[in-house]
Amino acid sequence: MDSIDEYFDAALALVKISGNLITEHVNGCKVFEKKSSDIDLVTEIDKKVEQTLIEGLTKKFPGHKFIGEESVADGAKCELTDSPTWIIDPVDGTLNFIHGFPHCCISVGLAINKECVAGIIYNPNLQQLFTAKKGQGAFLNDRKIHVSNVTELRNALVAFECGTSRDADKCAVVFENYKQIVAKGHGMRSLGSAALNMAMVAMGGADANFEFGIHAWDIAAGDILVREAGGVCLDPSGSPLDLLSRRVLCASTPELAKEISKTIVQYYPERD
Ligand code: IPD
Repeated sequence: MDSIDEYFDAALALVKISGNLITEHVNGCKVFEKKSSDIDLVTEIDKKVEQTLIEGLTKKFPGHKFIGEESVADGAKCELTDSPTWIIDPVDGTLNFIHGFPHCCISVGLAINKECVAGIIYNPNLQQLFTAKKGQGAFLNDRKIHVSNVTELRNALVAFECGTSRDADKCAVVFENYKQIVAKGHGMRSLGSAALNMAMVAMGGADANFEFGIHAWDIAAGDILVREAGGVCLDPSGSPLDLLSRRVLCASTPELAKEISKTIVQYYPERD
């Protein structure tokens, strides 16, 4: 078997098992701790899912490396090398998970030579399994998905988020961009999960998504998913995506990405 297929199958099995930990709390998980801010939260389930994935993948592929949200929060280095590296958000949309708002997911991307080559985004609450492998297309459950063909902001539904920081400068940029998108676009949406926002672009439900302040684990799986669905995934300036820059813009078409890039105010957070 081709190694990417082998790696993907092993990760998928672990993701599906871990999904049960999320559905056990479909009505919310009221026990949580704060991390970098009052709205950057973690639960025991985030930690258990990450541990299940890292332990299971390490057993199968001892040479592989990891960038996991909760391991980094506990002091692990956020280092992307050319080695196969699993980039894991054990519960993306933790705030939703805590409240029982059903949009949260496990997001797992595999980068080799610093390029995302496989991705899994799984929302077990709504039975949405988004998958992609390099050169093999993007799927929602067993159905092949494709981005929309929207090329202009005036026709675009754009997903974006405030993120988990209440820094005044960052919030000012978010509010200005909210005004710009509401005034010039078809509409805006926030699912409360960066990975699921990207999945919406991949399936053509939204036409673009951008965010400043996300982390590598929020976007790694979404990057390959959107590209395999025919879209573009870039830095919001229009340059190539840098997984550790904490900036992302994905869109159905390069024309739409360019227009959004020119329309929004840019923000440069500290790198991962
Ligand atoms: C967060 C969610 C949120 C996004 C934040 C992320 P988490 O991830 O994806 O929608 O706006 O930037 O940090 O903390 O729930 O894993």
